Amino acid sequence: MMFGSEIDKVLVSEEQIRERCKELGAELTKAYEQEADKLLVVALLKGSVPFLSELIKRIELPLEIDFMDVSSYDGTESIGDIKIIKDLDCSVKGMDILLVEDIIDTGRTVYEVKKLLYNKGAQRVRVVSLLDKPERRVVNIEADYVGYVVPNEFVVGFGLDYNQKYRNLPYIGVLKPEVYQ
Ligand code: IMP
Ligand code: MG
Repeated sequence: MMFGSEIDKVLVSEEQIRERCKELGAELTKAYEQEADKLLVVALLKGSVPFLSELIKRIELPLEIDFMDVSSYDGTESIGDIKIIKDLDCSVKGMDILLVEDIIDTGRTVYEVKKLLYNKGAQRVRVVSLLDKPERRVVNIEADYVGYVVPNEFVVGFGLDYNQKYRNLPYIGVLKPEVYQ
C-alpha cells in the first residue's frame, strides 16, 4: 500500500496547517502576553502532538508543556465518560492553561478535561483545537481558538487516527470508504 493512497480527498493541506498555526501562534502570543510566567500548555495525547509541535514554535512567550491521555474514543463513535490514562506530571494550581486538542467533535472530551483542570486549581483554561466539527456537538462547549472547521466526516492525518493509523500524514484528509469495510 502506497503512503497516502487510502486517502479519498485532502480537506486541509500541509501548507494551510502551517499558515494557520502561524496566525494562531500570533493570536496566542498576544492573548497570553500579560501572564506569560504562568502559561502551561496541556496537550491531549496522542492526536494533538503534531499540532502542538507546529503551534508552540509560533508562540513567542516562555511556556511549559505537559501531557494528558484520556480515552473517549473507540473506532469511529464517541462514548460518554472519559477515563484518565495518563495524568499530568506537574501541578496546574494557579496556572493559565492552554489546552491543545486535535478535534472537537461531540465536545465531551474537552468539556470533561476543562472541568477536571479547574477542579485541580487552574486559574483559567482556554482551548485551542486544530479542527472543529460543530455539527456533531452534544455538549455545549466551544474552543477559544480553532484552526479549521470541518464538515461532518471522519477525518485522519496530522495526528488524527483511524484505529491508530494515519497519524503521520502531513495533511488532513478523508479515507476512501473501502478502508472502513
Ligand atoms: P469528542 O469528545 O467527541 O469531542 O471527541 C474528541 C476526540 O475524538 C478527539 O480527540 C479525537 O481523538 C476523536 N475524534 C473525533 N472526531 C474524529 C475524526 O473525525 N477523526 C479522528 N478522530 C476523531
Ligand atoms: Mg483525541
